[in-house]
Amino acid sequence: MSLAVQLAGLRLKNPLIAASGTFGYGVEYEGILDLSRLGGIVSKGLYLEPRDGCAVPRIVETPSGLLNAIGLQGVGIRAFVRDVLPRLDGYDTAVIVNVCGDTVEEYAEVARIAEAPGVDALEINISCPNVKKGGMAFGGDPRMTHEVVAAVRKATRLPVIPKLSPNVADVTVFARVCEEAGADALSCINTLLGLAVDVERRMPRLAFGTGGLSGPAIRPVAVRMAWQAARAVRIPVIGIGGIASAEDALEFLIAGCRAVQIGTANFVDPGVYSRILAGLEDYLRRHGRESINDVVGSLRFPDAEETGGGGC
Ligand SMILES: Cc1cc2nc3c(=O)[nH]c(=O)nc-3n(C[C@H](O)[C@H](O)[C@H](O)COP(=O)(O)O)c2cc1C
Repeated sequence: MSLAVQLAGLRLKNPLIAASGTFGYGVEYEGILDLSRLGGIVSKGLYLEPRDGCAVPRIVETPSGLLNAIGLQGVGIRAFVRDVLPRLDGYDTAVIVNVCGDTVEEYAEVARIAEAPGVDALEINISCPNVKKGGMAFGGDPRMTHEVVAAVRKATRLPVIPKLSPNVADVTVFARVCEEAGADALSCINTLLGLAVDVERRMPRLAFGTGGLSGPAIRPVAVRMAWQAARAVRIPVIGIGGIASAEDALEFLIAGCRAVQIGTANFVDPGVYSRILAGLEDYLRRHGRESINDVVGSLRFPDAEETGGGGC
């Protein structure tokens, strides 16, 4: 039985990847789990320079979810390459750098520096809702999306994986724009823009005001968007949003995703990877399948034409 997947020219030993911002730079989890068991690790978002991020409070719990406005705190790409990357060297897992920028030029420069030995791919963060420049401002505009992805494509030989925002009306427009601009795969989705109110103080509960919603609360939205994106493009899609069990991961894989990322669940239970891997193997056994790839995109609709609406 095989859990290995091919993605953007990479071979991952299994389809489970730690999501950006929820797994530090990987090394923080060294003593807690064996990093070599993971298909891959995505770093926290990295700019050219170190950043402090937003004022606290930066995290609020909501029903089945987490609202965060960290504001892309980070050590900067040079410190990551110099200090962190050598520590990941001994692990048999794909290392993916989450690339950020305030300008198109900054994205390209971070990508250039990130092309260091030990880095396997770049995830382009054009979808963070918690910054005043860059982030969602780029990922919410097809023209800017194209510009950023094309600039990063030109700056590196590494696989380029734009991370799509759910805060758009039609995710397929952005998926196609990224493919046209030279992306090798897509990550889908980042957090949903939200607002939690402290009714006693009549103020937002996060210091930044709004935040990004993650966790099980967003999973049906994420599965729908990943499914739409996977149907719209030929490049592979990595599904992200609310995954905490093998069944959750399978929803995305069956909907057409080649791999998945696990985010908020890392804060709840770092043992989530072992549980999901065991669950995926059990699923393959029960369904008489040899490879996880046999499951990818196997979603069947009762009526193939009836795929767009529902809900009223
Ligand atoms: C605290 C926190 C920090 C995050 N930081 C980043 C980041 O730096 N870059 C990025 O692309 N996504 C970031 N994300 C988004 C996650 O990678 C992921 O797309 C999102 O949380 C949905 O997945 P989940 O429901 O499994 O958490 C962050 C999410 C959380 C909760």
